[in-house]
Amino acid sequence: MTDQPTLRDGDLVLRPWTLDDSGVTRPLHDREIARWFDFPVVEPSAQEHREWILRTATEWSDRTKATFLVEWRGQPVGTVDVRMQDPAVGVLSWAVYAPYRGRGLAWRAVRLLVEWAFDALDLQRVEAHVNPENRASVRTALRAGLRREGLLRGNAALAGVRQDTVVLGRRREDAHPDTREGFTAMLDSTLPTKRAIAQGVLRPSSPDSPGTGHVLLCELVYKREWDLPGGVVDAHESPAACVVREVREELDLVVTAGPLLAVNWLPALHGWGDATVFVFDLGTIDVDLVERARLQQREIRGVHWTGPDDWKGRVAPYNERLLRALDTARGHDRGTIYLEDGTPVS
Ligand SMILES: CC(C)(COP(=O)(O)OP(=O)(O)OC[C@H]1O[C@@H](n2cnc3c(N)ncnc32)[C@H](O)[C@@H]1OP(=O)(O)O)[C@@H](O)C(=O)NCCC(=O)NCCS
Repeated sequence: MTDQPTLRDGDLVLRPWTLDDSGVTRPLHDREIARWFDFPVVEPSAQEHREWILRTATEWSDRTKATFLVEWRGQPVGTVDVRMQDPAVGVLSWAVYAPYRGRGLAWRAVRLLVEWAFDALDLQRVEAHVNPENRASVRTALRAGLRREGLLRGNAALAGVRQDTVVLGRRREDAHPDTREGFTAMLDSTLPTKRAIAQGVLRPSSPDSPGTGHVLLCELVYKREWDLPGGVVDAHESPAACVVREVREELDLVVTAGPLLAVNWLPALHGWGDATVFVFDLGTIDVDLVERARLQQREIRGVHWTGPDDWKGRVAPYNERLLRALDTARGHDRGTIYLEDGTPVS
């Protein structure tokens, strides 16, 4: 095994730990470090710290872990390490001592470590598991070029309490974080995504049968309330394309998504996340055509032409509010209505 190298980036140096470093660095341990590493005491004893330094040398010899002291302008300012989870995957960890925080030293040190790990250790991927409340560490990982990949629920314990951890990762073939593509991918991984639902209003083509103002509602297999035809928009699918697809799948009918009648934001409810519903005008359709339609048995029990007198108790309260708002707007050129939880917001 070759000697552990020293890595440099301008005024920042990563070098192997030596026993001589213990005297300066041991008192620099603080509550933040103890908190996030779940250490039983803030400052390790002299013996514990020396044993830990000796262990970093053994772990390098075993090739199980590479730990570097971070030096900035000749001062020891922190520590970074990569533990080999398997020959291709390294798990990162880091700490910067309190007097040196907030100067960009953590992310620079982690980035230097990562670039070296890809080159010298031939790793294909590095990852870090960070408590979501440890905002400085989540930012450190992102600035070092890792992308947010997901949340592991109850994956770690801190002070005896199960905690979630955010997984952040960077693959060797990822666009470099300094490029536009790499930066965009990193930022994109952190942004919220919203659930979108697309539904459509279909009315009978003959105004007399079954009645003016009637809309087609689906009686569903999996829930009590009747609902407008439609469904959840897939990734990379537009709401308009979704409603056309859903109506084809559910009712075997070919429709065209007309003007957008309403946008209805639904807050989180009964364990479902919040969602934005796009309600399109699907125009009119021959009543016979609907009667002859082959319904998707898995989801749809039946379809019904319904008017304002039919909605109470049959549709969810937020949908009743939506349907009444649509009914009021019908015939007036009101454009798209914006609603929250079925209530129009002016
Ligand atoms: C996490 C830690 C290493 C950050 O050190 P640092 O040198 O202050 O970090 P940097 O200066 O490189 O800053 C990294 C990013 O975190 C941000 N940051 C720093 N402190 C922050 C805080 N308290 N809250 C939110 N963001 C913070 C910085 O603004 C920067 O992001 P930006 O460049 O987008 O502005 C340091 O706080 C620490 O040692 N904490 C205890 C140990 C620890 O938590 N280790 C990780 C366990 S997984």
